[in-house]
Amino acid sequence: MCGIVGYIGNKDAFPILLKGLHRLEYRGYDSAGIALVSEERKNLNVYKTRGKVADLEHFVESKDISGTIGIAHTRWATHGEPNDINAHPHYSQSENIALIHNGIIENYAVLKEELLRKGYTFQSATDTEVLVQFIEYVKDSNHTDLATAVHLALSQIVGAYAIAIIEKNNPDFLIAARKSSPLVVGIGEDEFFLASDATPIVEYTNKVIYLDDEEIAVIRREEGLKITSIENVEKTPHIQELSMNLSQLEKGGYPHFMLKEIFEQPRTLLDCMSGRINVEGNNVVLSGIFDNQEKFRKAKRIVICACGTSWHAGTIGMYLMEEYCRIPVVVEYSSEFRYRKPVIYPDDIVIAISQSGETADTLAAVELAKSHGAFIYGICNVVGASIPRATHSGSYTHAGPEIGVASTKAFTAQVTVLTLMTLVIGKVRGTISEENYLKIAQELLKVPAKMEQTLQLNEQIKEFSKIFTYAKNFIYLGRGYNYPLALEGALKLKEISYIHAEGYPAAEMKHGPIALIDAEMPVVVIAIKRGMYEKVVSNIQEIKARKGKVIAIITEGDEIVKQVSDYYIEIPDTEECLVPLVASIPLQLLAYHIAVTKGQDVDQPRNLAKSVTVE
Ligand code: F6R
Repeated sequence: MCGIVGYIGNKDAFPILLKGLHRLEYRGYDSAGIALVSEERKNLNVYKTRGKVADLEHFVESKDISGTIGIAHTRWATHGEPNDINAHPHYSQSENIALIHNGIIENYAVLKEELLRKGYTFQSATDTEVLVQFIEYVKDSNHTDLATAVHLALSQIVGAYAIAIIEKNNPDFLIAARKSSPLVVGIGEDEFFLASDATPIVEYTNKVIYLDDEEIAVIRREEGLKITSIENVEKTPHIQELSMNLSQLEKGGYPHFMLKEIFEQPRTLLDCMSGRINVEGNNVVLSGIFDNQEKFRKAKRIVICACGTSWHAGTIGMYLMEEYCRIPVVVEYSSEFRYRKPVIYPDDIVIAISQSGETADTLAAVELAKSHGAFIYGICNVVGASIPRATHSGSYTHAGPEIGVASTKAFTAQVTVLTLMTLVIGKVRGTISEENYLKIAQELLKVPAKMEQTLQLNEQIKEFSKIFTYAKNFIYLGRGYNYPLALEGALKLKEISYIHAEGYPAAEMKHGPIALIDAEMPVVVIAIKRGMYEKVVSNIQEIKARKGKVIAIITEGDEIVKQVSDYYIEIPDTEECLVPLVASIPLQLLAYHIAVTKGQDVDQPRNLAKSVTVE
């Protein structure tokens, strides 16, 4: 939700900031802006416009973009519609200070009223403009410098923020701060970078510091970096090395990141399993569980908290853990859990699942569960993000940067980690038989090859997806492990093609949704020869009897479903609990090709952002 980037050093800031914005565009793309201090002309130039980063690039043509210090922003609107004025950076009243912000200032209305009474005027409808005006007010009324004013002002701010600020008369000074929104400082040779995540930084330096909540980074050209708390207590920075590489951030010849990420899944699953499962498939090790075996042995309940696609992965985790670990599992939407006054016991294990590791609701759910004494385990993709830092233990998914806004490879990596966890917890608790342990572990090792085989169906899926661009609605059906997958298939379609889609447990169809079936209605059915196969075949018959169009995902060679469905996609057979991993591929490809055929922007669908750092 909004991407921020900053630079101070001896190079031209503009190209670095612009490239950084392109990298962060997945976080928001309704408007973009940049502020630069031109040392030569002693100006603080702010350029901003509605639209994407490419529009900003066009907008600044023939403008003064000089300067070796600057800040830039790509926005996902919260307060104030997406337009030129509400775009960041925002000036202070005197236009001496410019600020960019990711987050929400909750007490902005009270502060704005106070400032209006003192004669301040506002151009935009944003909470961010209130913050920059407030900082200037504190600076002027206390006759102090900007660094002190930022400390004083932030002590009165309620809400979430990652901010970066520059000043017209101070081209050697950049200040940034964070609370509940991510901020990374990159340390180069006589230069410093700021960004919402490490992707804009990685090509310049691999040395980074992930700022903690309520930390302020003060960067001066001569003295370098100093990190303090809001109360101005100096902190010792913890410098970390990035393991990301640049090719992970490029499209690599694919037309969209989403397609690249779909095709990366055999590789990401191998990376996810690497060092965790031996080649014989008879030993699975997850250090995060191994180091806390007693907790997992004694736990009475597992609570999984997540949002969106991660919630779907968590629901597959529930099916896995209840079957093989014999422990009650509940899956919660983080946003509901955190406000519901849930009953949480100290011997609960709470698993937080988040690709970005920054989702505000999941982070709040983690903090709530922690305050009740539960043991918190994180499953995250972005290394060093807020959620993995807030948990007691966890496992990274190692899927690499996911840039397409619709989650694909992170989902299958989350399901893989949950499968590995199930095997380890099942063993620790003595609930999984040796036979099942071996069967699942050994079959899991074969899944990347089966995904590879399924990806060969890309052209076939592309061809018949053209038939469905007419549709206004879709239904997705599955049972057991494939019910959460039906939900995920429907979410993929709706978020990138803007076609309304509902996922349902197949047997629930007759309790209502069947009324929607007519000759226009495409119904995707995951009808694999495992689990409740015969019952799903009956559901297909019920749809056909009402003239619905059935697109079935079937097990290779299944002649029965071939005959009763209108279209079918054959995937290789695998263990029932592993079907969602292989069957994800055709669902992702179907959504992708329908959206592309409809001419939608699949990597940056409207209204969405990759990292949801607001409630
Ligand atoms: C859908 C999608 C979202 C995210 C959700 C949670 O394709 O990407 O539904 O899954 O916003 O995000 P994370 O996993 O980062 O917590």
